[in-house]
Amino acid sequence: MISTRIAGIGFQVPANVITNTDLIKFMDTSNEWIIERTGIEQRRYVSAGEGTSDLATAAAHKAIAMAGIDVSEIDFIICATISSDYFFPGSAFQVQANLGLADIGAFDIKVACSGFVYGLSIADQYIKTGQYKNILLIGAEVQSNALNLTTEGRDMAVLFGDGAGAVILQPSDGESLIYSTHLHADGRHLKDLWGEVPACNQKPHISHEMLDQGRQYPKMNGREVFRNALKRFPAVILEAMEKNNLTRDDITLIIPHQANLRITQAVAKRLELSMDKVYSNIHKYGNTTAASIPIAMAEALAEGKFKRGDNLVLASFGAGFSWGSAAIKF
Ligand code: UT7
Repeated sequence: MISTRIAGIGFQVPANVITNTDLIKFMDTSNEWIIERTGIEQRRYVSAGEGTSDLATAAAHKAIAMAGIDVSEIDFIICATISSDYFFPGSAFQVQANLGLADIGAFDIKVACSGFVYGLSIADQYIKTGQYKNILLIGAEVQSNALNLTTEGRDMAVLFGDGAGAVILQPSDGESLIYSTHLHADGRHLKDLWGEVPACNQKPHISHEMLDQGRQYPKMNGREVFRNALKRFPAVILEAMEKNNLTRDDITLIIPHQANLRITQAVAKRLELSMDKVYSNIHKYGNTTAASIPIAMAEALAEGKFKRGDNLVLASFGAGFSWGSAAIKF
């Protein structure tokens, strides 16, 4: 049976740094509130005209360079994003064109914060069956353009940022491999974290009335998300460990979706792990939705937090609700 390995990884964030103090210009909030409730100190916002596909393409180039392959060797593209540049088609097609790769298959998946883990699982199946040999998987988001940057939208506005991370997935060399992936969802919570408009069940999809009502902005029941995250993150991490008989000592690093530092700390506590085994870089980038895990992974690797041959568990929780994990020997 063929396994899958991560051959290369890279990330890209926009140059524009937005501190908590910058947000005070737009809304009633404070640096203290944001740090205490979320751990976030700053995030990155794109400049005018910069889109998800631009960040995704830049991250892809870095992952390709680390994998040491030629761009032309990529045979499939998956882009995990809820913020494709256009309503349709997805960003994967723009990335394909930007990389100069005509003809190969490409698609987006819209699984929000769990998009990267879901994408990893999909790509893993294609590699295992021998269908593809160099899959480009990207998690990329531009959230800043979607947020309500006023006091009314402050609960979400302070959390989210823009960025992209990418990996190249290849058949395993025997040393590095994805042990398993675990995917879950509970659609009963759909409206606890959602973006309603543009809505294809409405005619027209978007109207002046909808805009006046602010229905184009994402909405979140923060406490319900928090409560479920504390339940689902530990469970899905344990599921990945138990499936592969991995003990806490076997794991070098857990890389969770960067939702909120308080969530990450609570998850570490529930799993009886010290925070040096659970990676966090949310203070720098905020929550970048589908991009957060590959950004965190690329940064943790660059910081020497893990190396080839180390065991990692990636874990996600977010809109849907959807959650998942992947146990990996990097
Ligand atoms: O990827 C998954 C995405 N989402 C998440 O992971 C979010 C999970 N939820 C959370 O992280 C937290 O629920 C939040 C950080 C969003 C909110 O923290 P909280 O401790 O649950 O605060 P709260 O919603 O209970 O609000 C407490 C107070 C409220 O004021 P009152 O009603 O007590 O007067 C809010 O209006 O804080 C107020 N508030 C703010 N104040 C200053 C809400 N947002 C802000 C803000 N600045 N940005």
